[in-house]
Amino acid sequence: MSKKIFSGVQPTGNLHLGNYLGAIKNFVELGKDKENECIYCVVDLHAITVKQDKDQLKNNIRETAATFIASGIDPNKNIIFNQSKVYAHAEGSWILSCLSPMGWLNRMTQFKEKAGKDKEKASVGLYIYPILMASDILLYDATHVPVGEDQKQHLELTRDIAHKFNKEFACEDFFKIPEPLIKKNFSRIMSLKDGLKKMSKSDPSDLSRINLTDSEDDIINKIRKAKTDSSPIPNEERELKDRPEAENLLRIYSSILNQTLNKTLDEFGGKNFSEFKSQLAEILSSKISPISDETRKLISDKEYLDKILLEGASKAEEIAGKKIKEMKQIIGF
Ligand code: TYM
Repeated sequence: MSKKIFSGVQPTGNLHLGNYLGAIKNFVELGKDKENECIYCVVDLHAITVKQDKDQLKNNIRETAATFIASGIDPNKNIIFNQSKVYAHAEGSWILSCLSPMGWLNRMTQFKEKAGKDKEKASVGLYIYPILMASDILLYDATHVPVGEDQKQHLELTRDIAHKFNKEFACEDFFKIPEPLIKKNFSRIMSLKDGLKKMSKSDPSDLSRINLTDSEDDIINKIRKAKTDSSPIPNEERELKDRPEAENLLRIYSSILNQTLNKTLDEFGGKNFSEFKSQLAEILSSKISPISDETRKLISDKEYLDKILLEGASKAEEIAGKKIKEMKQIIGF
């Protein structure tokens, strides 16, 4: 069945292995299927929900697009663009905001995590950000949305908002109800320093994550220093319970090689971590270093990247512009 795919990544720098294994790797695979229509968005409007440096933001937008292409997304076959170029996203978000009860947003756990203790000081944008995400998805009639586990709740909200709009304005099927595509075992890559914490751009320790711009030496060093425990690698998955750091490294290895965790355990069960770590570092650098080399090369060609983003925006505008017009007619404008 052909799928309409939409997904986004924030241009906030430090794209890491979690973004790659949880989302971008899936973007690439879906984009290769001729049946699928894929739209991948650099969500710069989402990025400004927290303070950004103007020049850094500009660079990060290009770098995110470059990482998409370097990872294997073909800009001739898939649409790559940045969100702020297509007005419909913000307009749609406002309309959907007026329809979304505050109670629904109050449940969003990511806001609570990101706003922290001082939520009075968090921006209103950060609070309503899941509605902008709903607008992104619904404007393109996306049927499937590849994301990591941390975005699951936002997808559920998107579905609720779509149902509410369709019902309230008696326009059944106007908004398609999108399905999340979450890679079952690899949707939550954890910090290399703490197996209970998600690998994240904002972790102050660079040793907690593999960045998609890391060199081979960086990768080897970070994997060598990654936290493990003193027991050998088990033979069975159930023995990984209460060993989050061990489980995380074994999952990363399995994900990179597209194999099951069981297969990895068959390979390494009974062995110690030092041997496993050197193999993990090797396969990680063989996968990540070409992406980081290609990203660096692409970043130096600003003209090329700007052209891709501009062409992408014009194609996106065609789709989203039509949908927002219909949306406005439906609500009585
Ligand atoms: P963002 O930019 O935080 O992350 C981009 C993608 O990477 C996934 N991800 C992870 N997956 C596994 N393990 C991790 N440690 C990890 N960290 C991040 C995220 O789940 C995400 O898929 N709100 C979104 C961007 C967005 C969007 C959209 C996504 C805006 N509009 C519409 C889909 C559809 C975000 O902040 O992702």
